[in-house]
Amino acid sequence: MVSRVIPVDPFDLVIFGGTGDLAQRKILPALFRRFCAGQWPDDAQIIGAARAEYTPDAFREVVAESLRSHAPSQSRNADALNTFLQRVDYVPLDALSDTAWGRLAAKLTDDRVRAFYFSVGPQLFGQLAERIKHHDLATPKTRIVVEKPFGHDLESARALNAILAEHFSEGQIYRIDHYLGKETVQNLMAVRFGNMLFEPLWNSQYVDHIQITVAESVGIDGREEYYDRAGAMRDMMQNHLMQLLCLIAMEPPAKFDPDAVRDEKLKVIRALDPVEPHHIVRGQFDAGPSGAGYRDTVGNPRSTTESYVALRAHVSNWRWAGTPFYLRTGKRLIERSSVINVMFKDAPHSIFGADAGRHANVLSIRLQPNEGITLKVTIKEPGPGGMRLVDVPLDMSFAEALGSENQDPPDAYERLVMDVIRGNQTLFMRGDEVEAAWAWTDPIIAGWQARGDVPKPYDSGSTGPGDAELLMKRDGRRWQGINP
Ligand code: BG6
Repeated sequence: MVSRVIPVDPFDLVIFGGTGDLAQRKILPALFRRFCAGQWPDDAQIIGAARAEYTPDAFREVVAESLRSHAPSQSRNADALNTFLQRVDYVPLDALSDTAWGRLAAKLTDDRVRAFYFSVGPQLFGQLAERIKHHDLATPKTRIVVEKPFGHDLESARALNAILAEHFSEGQIYRIDHYLGKETVQNLMAVRFGNMLFEPLWNSQYVDHIQITVAESVGIDGREEYYDRAGAMRDMMQNHLMQLLCLIAMEPPAKFDPDAVRDEKLKVIRALDPVEPHHIVRGQFDAGPSGAGYRDTVGNPRSTTESYVALRAHVSNWRWAGTPFYLRTGKRLIERSSVINVMFKDAPHSIFGADAGRHANVLSIRLQPNEGITLKVTIKEPGPGGMRLVDVPLDMSFAEALGSENQDPPDAYERLVMDVIRGNQTLFMRGDEVEAAWAWTDPIIAGWQARGDVPKPYDSGSTGPGDAELLMKRDGRRWQGINP
C-alpha cells in the first residue's frame, strides 16, 4: 500500500522555545521527515525563536545535531539535510520583552499560512499571544499551537482559554494532545465507523465492560519537578486516556470534520459520572532494578503524588448506561503497552451445557507497540470428547497486513504539525473539551487532597498496585494482561 503525500501550502512556522527539548526532539525532526517525504513547498520556512543568543548558523548546527539523533535515517542524506537547514532561521527573542519582534516580523511573508508554535511553559502563552498581536504579526491566516499541559485544573485552563481568546479565535487555536496524532489512535475511528461489523454490538447490551490501559516502563527522570506537581491523573488520565475513552465511546459523527468530531467527544466527557472514591486506585513506584523509587527520584521523601492510577468510569447515556470503563495508566510498569480491550458479554444461553464453560469475545486494539487488532473467538476444540469449546485469537498486526513500508508509521507530530499548516483542527482539542475534562478531573483530585489520600506503593517492573486487581475483582472481573 503506497502512502499518499498531500502537499501543503507555503508557510512560515515560528517555534517559540525553538532551542528547547520538545522542539529539538519532536517538532523539528517531524518537520524534517515531512520535508524528506516531499510534503513541503520549496519556499516554506521555519524560524526558531528563543532567548539564547544564537546566530542563525549556530542554531542550524544545533538543529542538525538533533536531526542526526532523532531522524537518523533521513539525516544520512546530506543533500536533504542541507536543503532543510537552509529553510531554518533563528531570531533571539524574549517573550517577556518587546525587543526583537521587528526582526521577527521582517522575516515573515504576507499572505501565507503563518503558524506560531508555543513550545514554552503555559505561563508564557498570554505574553506571546499579546505580543504577536501588539507587534502586528497576526494575519487572517495565522494559527497558534499550544502544548499540554493545558492548565493544572479547571480554573487555570479557563484562564488560559480566556487569554488566548482575547487575541485569537477558536478556529486559530490548535491545542495538542499528541495521542490524537498517533496512527493507531486515528485508526480507532476507522475501525469503529468504517466497519458494519462492530457498530451494532457497540453498546451496553452486548459489551460487558471496556478496559483502557496505557502502561509505560519508563519513569519520570528529567521531568521530576513538573511530574511531582502533576501526577498520573493530570499528566495522562485527564488528556490521553480521556481522548481514547472519547473515541471508543462517542456516537458516530455525521462527518469527519473538526466540529462534528469534537462535538461528539465533548458529549462523552459531559456524560461521565463523578468517580466514586472506592473506584479509584492510586499507586507510587518503589525502587527496582531499573532505578530509584518515586520519592527518591523526585527528591521529596513525603511526596503523595501518584505515578499510577486506575479507575472505573461510567458514561451515563443511552448507549453506555451499565457498561463500566476501567482505565489505568502508570510509570515503571512491566512493559510499555497501550491497549484497549472491548469485553463482550457471554452468549445469553449455552446450548452446549454447563461443561462447555463460559466464553466471551474480546476485541483487543493494540495502540503501541505491536500495533494491531485481535478478536478472541470461541471454536470447538478439535477431536473427539464432545463439544469442548476453546477461545482462539483472530490476530492481525498492522505491519503484516499493510506491508513493510508501513512498519514505521509517521510520528504523531508529523501528522499534527502538517494539520496545523493545512488548517485542519479535527485532531486538536477544542477549548470546551479541555475544560470539560478538567471539570471531571478536579473533584477526583480534590477528594484525594481532602482525605489526605496516600498512594499505594508498587514494585517497579510490576503490573501496578495490588489494589488495582481488587478494583476489578470486586466487580467479578479481571484485567487483561498488560500486553495481550
Ligand atoms: C506525555 C506525558 O504527554 O505522554 C509523559 O507527559 C508520557 O509522561 C508521554 O510519558 C507518553 O507518550 P507516548 O507517545 O510515549 O505514549
